[in-house]
Amino acid sequence: PKLAVMASGNGSNFEALVKATQNHTLEAEIVCLVCDHADAYVIERAKHLQIPAIILEPRDFKDKNHYERAIVKGLEAYDVDVIILAGYMRIVTPYMLDKYPGHILNIHPALLPHFPGRQGIQDAWDAGVSQTGVTVHLIDSGIDSGPILAQQTVDITEDDTLETLEAKIHQVEQRLYAKTIQEFLQAEKEK
Ligand code: GRF
Repeated sequence: PKLAVMASGNGSNFEALVKATQNHTLEAEIVCLVCDHADAYVIERAKHLQIPAIILEPRDFKDKNHYERAIVKGLEAYDVDVIILAGYMRIVTPYMLDKYPGHILNIHPALLPHFPGRQGIQDAWDAGVSQTGVTVHLIDSGIDSGPILAQQTVDITEDDTLETLEAKIHQVEQRLYAKTIQEFLQAEKEK
């Protein structure tokens, strides 16, 4: 299967997924990166990893609908089967959801339905909970809603700081995402 990764920023999950395809823990091909910020670090990673990048900035389009139409055109040109959101900081509209029904996955750095939104790690930290985690889910038109595919907990211990918690979460993310995508693709094959 052919995957597209959509990301807005750093791209550690993008890179981990590409590596997972290279060592065959993830049996799929990442055919392109879609990025909405021309200066995002993830684009450097894509160059290094020799993955083509589709860079489209919403401000260059009349509205969100035209922006997403351009993305879908790009995805169709690469014959993409499944879309992997990895730190893509925008809501996907029904237009794109309809083009890839049940085939858009997202990763969130908290145990949904707790702490949705842009700052899942910070919000769990501020709330003083003793456990948070990572969620991989299918997306729908809400914010961090949609059926959950996998979750893994991360303990917040006495000696954690926000920074050590972030590092722990990102470590868990990178393993959980590849594993869950692999299971998702396997289940699709057996359908
Ligand atoms: C991750 O924490 C992911 O869960 C969230 O955005 C962050 C992206 O990190 N949706 P990176 O760009 O993959 O390094």
